[in-house]
Amino acid sequence: SAMPIILIVATYLIGSIPVGYLLTRYATGKNIREYGSGNIGSTNVKRIAGKKIALITQLLDMLKGLLPVSLYLLFFSNSGTSSFWVYGVALAAILGHDFSVFLKFKGGKGVNTTLGASVLLAPVAVFASVALYFIVKWRFKYVSLGSLVLAAALPIISFIQNNITPTFYYLLVCTVLITVLHAKNIQRLLRNEEIPSN
Ligand code: G3P
Repeated sequence: SAMPIILIVATYLIGSIPVGYLLTRYATGKNIREYGSGNIGSTNVKRIAGKKIALITQLLDMLKGLLPVSLYLLFFSNSGTSSFWVYGVALAAILGHDFSVFLKFKGGKGVNTTLGASVLLAPVAVFASVALYFIVKWRFKYVSLGSLVLAAALPIISFIQNNITPTFYYLLVCTVLITVLHAKNIQRLLRNEEIPSN
């Protein structure tokens, strides 16, 4: 049936909703893309619109991944449709967030949406890499460094747990996306110019 394709397109559109941009505009009147790191993610929202708006952004950006994957698993995965579509749904949410149709195909860096989209597919990898994120952020005071360690840890933990599986390859794609989208953060980290976490 065409349902998975429809779900993937709908998921891309949901992922495209620039939550951090909209909530920051609503709360402060500012265009978040012109402040701080210029990113629309919750880290930058915290700098510009404060903790509360940042937390709402984070939860909604996670939900953009979790909701479509949950709907797929609930309604499609046992109806004869090849289960590999779930990775398409997860990636559609992440790609929507990263390359939003509403922001001329620019967007965020995908950490929160990746966590939401992946938590049902790889719960151990997600929770363990979030734990690593907190350790790195606490030790080095850079959110971006924590995000990069989190991203690298996702497929590594999946591999340690289950060896090479479709989920491992899916998480590897997530790692590449998050890492490439942190290019400017990596440059700043290497030059000792990264913005410390607040
Ligand atoms: O996920 C984004 C975070 O790692 C860095 O955010 O605003 O410092 O580029 P930012």
